[in-house]
Order: sequence, then structure tokens, then C-alpha cells
Amino acid sequence: MSMAATVVTGLILIVDDIPSNLDVISDALSDMGFDVAIATSGERALQQAERKPPDLILLDVMMPGIDGFETCRRLKASPRTADIPVIFMTALSDLNSKVQALDLGAVDYVTKPFQEQEVLARVKTHLQLRHLTQTLEQQVAQKTAELQASQMQLIQSEKMSALGQLVAGVAHEINNPVGFIGGNLFHADGFIKDLINLIDIYQTHYPEPVPEVQEELESIDFAYLRTDLPNLVRSMKSGLDRIQDISKSLRIFSRSDSISKAAFNVHDGIDSAILILKYRLKANDIRPEIQIIKNYGEVPLIECFPGQLNQVFMNIMVNAIDMFDEMAESSPSEDLEANPQKITIDTRLENNQLHICIADNGLGMDMETKARIFNYLFTTKGVGKGTGLGLAIARQIVVEKHSGSIEVDSIIGAGTKFIITLPI
Ligand SMILES: Nc1ncnc2c1ncn2[C@@H]1O[C@H](COP(=O)(O)OP(=O)(O)O)[C@@H](O)[C@H]1O
Ligand SMILES: [Mg+2]
Repeated sequence: MSMAATVVTGLILIVDDIPSNLDVISDALSDMGFDVAIATSGERALQQAERKPPDLILLDVMMPGIDGFETCRRLKASPRTADIPVIFMTALSDLNSKVQALDLGAVDYVTKPFQEQEVLARVKTHLQLRHLTQTLEQQVAQKTAELQASQMQLIQSEKMSALGQLVAGVAHEINNPVGFIGGNLFHADGFIKDLINLIDIYQTHYPEPVPEVQEELESIDFAYLRTDLPNLVRSMKSGLDRIQDISKSLRIFSRSDSISKAAFNVHDGIDSAILILKYRLKANDIRPEIQIIKNYGEVPLIECFPGQLNQVFMNIMVNAIDMFDEMAESSPSEDLEANPQKITIDTRLENNQLHICIADNGLGMDMETKARIFNYLFTTKGVGKGTGLGLAIARQIVVEKHSGSIEVDSIIGAGTKFIITLPI
């Protein structure tokens, strides 16, 4: 960053009780492209500086009313004007007043009669210095924010990977017992069919059993047992299928894949995220079930970090659910029944890119919110509810890890749509 390259412009306030003294300098500054304002007393200068803070002040020392030193003291005392560089213009050539000027926080002084070129050069230098200081301060603030954000993200991704490992471990542990229940159920089903068949044969050949058997048949309500047992087995099988689906989804969802990319069907990922969120999509005290509408297109497998993409899908859907819950708090339930809350997921291939749209028909967001949602730590949710990390992480995963893009479309009162584009 070279000083010479910086374009210097700005507003310069010249303070002197005899402004005609300054015609030359004022004209020269205007010619150089500066805006020039004039004040004829310390009091006026203070007022003007408060109202419209200039970028630099040229301040006369000897003035009726409050003198330049006092004016400078007051400028430095007000937060609004404290940082404005002040250059004293002094006829006094004694060392004391120069020292006093610098002690008061002035950046420089020029002595009368003026050397025009010298004054211009000093004004320019101090404006450049101020500009650089401001830029530096901004950069420091930005770097600090970035550092904080990356720390937060590190903590978050560590949590996610610990959670992922835990979930994968649980899914693995569930698999064994589920496997042998499944195997046994298959055999039990066959055995039960055989037994029932055997009893049927008995009943055909011995329609009039001895009283003891007859009593037992009645006491166990055999007729009912005979018809219900197959249903029971069927429902055990479907329960088992669900456990297997959940365990598979947990494993898909938590794929620990930080090292290398793998070919992945995004539909499996979206489905696994939906399954994980199932309990939140269900009807609750304040709203009916949230509907999921899938319009999956024909899309190829993509090379990606599956676990990370799943997190993106989940973060986006969690936000929609949060919003739907918030919306339900202020909507009569008839309204929600008439116009159900929906999350619509579209996937398609376009221009050799995979498009994934996740849309809700909820509250939408205003322009200011929309502009900030991908920022780290930006949240509109209460303490303990939002972290402001969900979309920032989603953006990072999509853009930085997968060279894709993520965009948002939102209309207040109509809903929000996230569009993720991934290269094939
Ligand atoms: N589907 C949506 N509808 C309305 N607002 C949303 C939606 N998704 C995200 N937002 C807004 O974006 C903000 C940031 O989201 P996010 O980064 O996930 O952080 P958090 O969920 O912790 O607030 C949310 O606080 C919310 O204001
Ligand atoms: Mg969120």
C-alpha cells in the first residue's frame, strides 16, 4: 500500500478570524479537489465540526474568544471530533507554543507567513496518514472478526465430527442386534405359518376335539390369535425395516469423509437429513405436520464430501422448520391446515451442473436480513436458539469445499428458496 497511490480528497475546515488571510490557501486547496469550509471563530469551528466532521482542520492560534489551543482541547474532548487531525497555523515562532500545540494532540503546525506549497504538502500528508490509519483499523477489525469466526467454526466442525462419529458408532452397534432379530423373525415367520397350518389340518381331521382342547381353544381365543398372528409378524417386520432405514440414514448422514471425496447420490443425502429431522417435522402442539415435497430429477452421482453436504441440507431445512415453528406461534391453526407448511426440494441437471433447490412457503425475510444470512454469527433468533453458524458453514462447504454456489431468493410473506449449484 503506497502512500503516493492513495487518492486524497476530503473536507478541510479552515479556522481563522480573518479569513481573507487564507484566500490563497483556500483557493489552492479547492483547486486540488478538496472541499473547503471556513469558520471565523473557535466557537463556530466547534459547532461546525460537530455538525459535519471534516477530515482535517487548519486552526489559527491567536483568535478573539476561545483561542486555537482551547478550541483544539475541546475538539479532542468530543468523541465525534477527537480523531480529526488538527494542523495549527501560527505566527508564533517560539518553541514553547509549538510544543504546546503538539501536546494538545495537533498533528503538525505551519508558520505564517505561509509557504503555500509547504502547507499543501502537509495537508496532503496528514490526510493520507489518516486514511491509512482508518484503513488499517478497518483491516484489523475485519481480521479479528475473521479469526473469531474461524475459531467458532473449528469448534463447530469438531463438534459435528465428534457427533458424526458417535452417530456412526451407534448405528453400527444397532446393526448387529437388528440383523439377528431380522434373521430370527424370518424363521419365526416360517415356523408360525407351519404351526398354524398344522393346527388347521388337525381341525379338519378332528372337528370335535376333546373338551379339554375345546376349553383351551376358547380360553386363548384361538380364532382371533389365528388371524392376528400374521399381522403381528408383518408389523414387526415393518418396524424392523424402519430401524434399518434409520440406521442406514444415520450412517449416510454421518459419513466421516474429511480426507477424500467420494461418489455420492445427493438424493440419499437429502433423504437421510429428512429422516434425521423427522421428529421435528411431525405435528406438534402449535402446528400440523410439515409436508416434504420431493421433485427429484435424473441426476448423476457427484464427487463430494457426502457428510458435509448432508450437513448443508440439514442446516437449510432446520432453518425452515425453526421459521415454521415461529410462524405457527402467531397463526391460527385453521390457517395452517388450509395452507399447509411445506418444504419443497427440487433437483435437476442443468448446464452440466447439479441444481438443488430447497424452498419453504413461510415468512420470507426482508432485504437487510437476506443480505446478512451467510455471515458468521448472524442470527435473528433468541439467545440459546440460534448460533448464526448454520448458513455460514453451508456457504463454506458449498463454495470453498465443493466449488459450487449457494444463493437465496426470498419474498416476505411468500417464502424462501435456497439454490445450491454443484459442478459435476
Ligand atoms: N428459511 C428461512 N426463512 C426465514 N429466515 C431464514 C431462513 N433461513 C435462514 N433464515 C435467517 O437466517 C438467519 C441465519 O441462519 P443460520 O446461519 O442458520 O443461523 P441460526 O439458524 O443459528 O440463526 C436466521 O437467524 C434467520 O433469520
Ligand atoms: Mg440455522
